[in-house]
Amino acid sequence: FSLRPFNTFGIEAKAHAYLRVTSNDQLRAVKEDAALNALPRLVLGGGSNLLLTRDFPGLVLHMATTGIDIVGEDANATHVKAAAGENWHQFVQWTLGAGLGGLENLSLIPGSVGASPIQNIGAYGVELKDTFHALTAFNTDTGETFVLDKAACHFGYRDSVFKHAFRDQAVILDVTFALPKQWQPNVQYADVAQELAACGIAAPTPRQISDAVIAIRTRKLPDPAQIGNAGSFFKNPIVTAEQRDALLARYPKLVSYAQADGTFKLAAGWLIDQSGWKGRSIGAAGVYEKQALVLVNRGGASGRDIAELAAAIQADVLAKFGVMLEPEPVFI
Ligand code: EPU
Repeated sequence: FSLRPFNTFGIEAKAHAYLRVTSNDQLRAVKEDAALNALPRLVLGGGSNLLLTRDFPGLVLHMATTGIDIVGEDANATHVKAAAGENWHQFVQWTLGAGLGGLENLSLIPGSVGASPIQNIGAYGVELKDTFHALTAFNTDTGETFVLDKAACHFGYRDSVFKHAFRDQAVILDVTFALPKQWQPNVQYADVAQELAACGIAAPTPRQISDAVIAIRTRKLPDPAQIGNAGSFFKNPIVTAEQRDALLARYPKLVSYAQADGTFKLAAGWLIDQSGWKGRSIGAAGVYEKQALVLVNRGGASGRDIAELAAAIQADVLAKFGVMLEPEPVFI
C-alpha cells in the first residue's frame, strides 16, 4: 500500500496494511483482532510532520474522523471540540466563522487536529497550549479511552507527553479548545505587525490576523501540494546565555530570542542560511530558497535522501556554530 499520498514530503514508501479510520470504534475492532493487533502501528494524521525513511512493515491507522462542535463554556471561554481527522486550517476557519478568536495566528499550519497536540504546534507568537483545554485518547495497549487536561500533556516547545511516555501507545481521538471570551490580538511577532500595518489595519479582528498570517505563510513557506515538505525541518535550538553571548561576539547579526527561563532560542533558519545551505540540494533533496529551515523534495527524493541532506546540514552548523540541530519531524 503506497503511503505517498499520505505524507506531505511526497515520499514513496509502502505499508503492509492501511486502515482509514472514520469511527473510533474501528480502533477497538483493531485491538480485538489478534492478527491486526500484533502488527506494528503507525498513526497518521495529515502526514505533515513525518519523514518516511523506509517501508513500514505494519498497520497504518489513518485518522479521518470528522465533527466540530461547541461543547460548553465557562466564565472566560467557549469550549470547542474537534475530531482528530479534521483538517487543522479548516478547523481554525470554522472557529473564526463562529465568531471565536484565539487560533487565528495558527492559520494555514498543515496537518490534522489530532496531530496538533503531539508537537504543540505554534506560529507567530502563539502555541496550541495557549488555548488547549483537554483531549480524549485511546490507549492501544489497554484498549481504554482516557482524557488528558493541559497539565497532563506536558506541553513544551514543539513537544508533549505524546513524544515521550505515550509515544506509540496513544491515539488522539478529539481535542477541545477553550477560546477566550475577552479576545486580545497577539501581534507581538514583527512579521504580523508589519503585514497588518501594510494593510493599514490598526485594531485587527481575528479574521484580519488570520488573513495576514495566511499572506505571510504563502510568501515564505512552500505549499506541499506544489513541492513536498514538512514545514520547519529542525527545531530552533535553545542555548544558555553564555553560549549565546559567545556566538553574538563572533556573529553580531545572530538572531536569538530571550526565553522566560534565561536561556535563548536561536533561529535555526539563520544558522543554516549562514552556513551556505539556502537553496542548495543534494540530488532531489533541497533546502528551500525562501526559508532555509524548510527541506524540500524537488521530485523523487527518498526519505534517506532527505535524511542525508539533514545530516550534512547538521554537521556544517555544528562545525561553524557549535550547535547541534534537532529534527522536528518524526522519522519512521
Ligand atoms: N532566517 C534567515 N534565513 C532563512 C530563514 C530565516 O536568516 O533562510 C531568519 C529570519 O530572517 C528571522 C529568523 O531567522 O530573523 C526566524 O525566521 P522565521 O520568522 O521565518 O521563523 P522560524 O523561527 O524560522 C518558526 C517556526 C515556524 C513558524 C515560524 C513563525 C520552528 C521550528 N519553526 O520558524 O513553524 O511558522 O516560526 O512563527 O519553531 C513549523 O514548525 O513547521 C513551522 C513552519
